[in-house]
Amino acid sequence: MTSIFKRRSVRRYTDQKIEKEKIESMLRAAMQAPSACNQQPWEFIVVEDKQTVEQLSKFSPYARMLLEAPLAIIILEKTTDLIAPAFTQQDLGACTQNLLLQAVEEKLGAVWLGVSKGDDREKFIVDMFNIPTELRPFGVISVGYPMDADANSFVDRYDEKRVHYGSF
Ligand SMILES: Cc1cc2nc3c(=O)[nH]c(=O)nc-3n(C[C@H](O)[C@H](O)[C@H](O)COP(=O)(O)O)c2cc1C
Repeated sequence: MTSIFKRRSVRRYTDQKIEKEKIESMLRAAMQAPSACNQQPWEFIVVEDKQTVEQLSKFSPYARMLLEAPLAIIILEKTTDLIAPAFTQQDLGACTQNLLLQAVEEKLGAVWLGVSKGDDREKFIVDMFNIPTELRPFGVISVGYPMDADANSFVDRYDEKRVHYGSF
């Protein structure tokens, strides 16, 4: 079964560090995503320092898994000099999903932590990492080796009622 079907949000990790090659492979997958006009409106902050990852857990009440995560990747969205500014959210969604799928390929567990535009979570991350105004945090990915080896496992969500062949 391919990673797309096995991927789950994994929130419990061992304390094993993530190898540099695996970090690079996730970032390569992220940057391989399609984007409108191929504008690639993304940058990344890789956070490996344990104390910094712990501090980052305070950005949201739903990010407590970062307290035990060995790695966080902050995905940044470009906000200026864009060819197709209306599409950056879609571009970043594809980029983030690619990263999550590559994590599964690397036998890692990960979860996407949302940051919505203009909220307190965004400000927390901007201040903590000195992010320049031409970028904004789109999301944070918490990554680690899963505590439960079967954490990435298939759940069937296919719902034929949502599919409309030909016309609605
Ligand atoms: C935009 C977005 C924001 C999310 N934010 C959080 C979050 O803040 N904390 C969390 O634990 N999970 C978060 N998730 C993960 C979802 O809860 C999860 O994807 C959903 O429950 C489905 O489970 P699955 O990923 O295991 O298939 C987020 C997912 C998305 C796509």
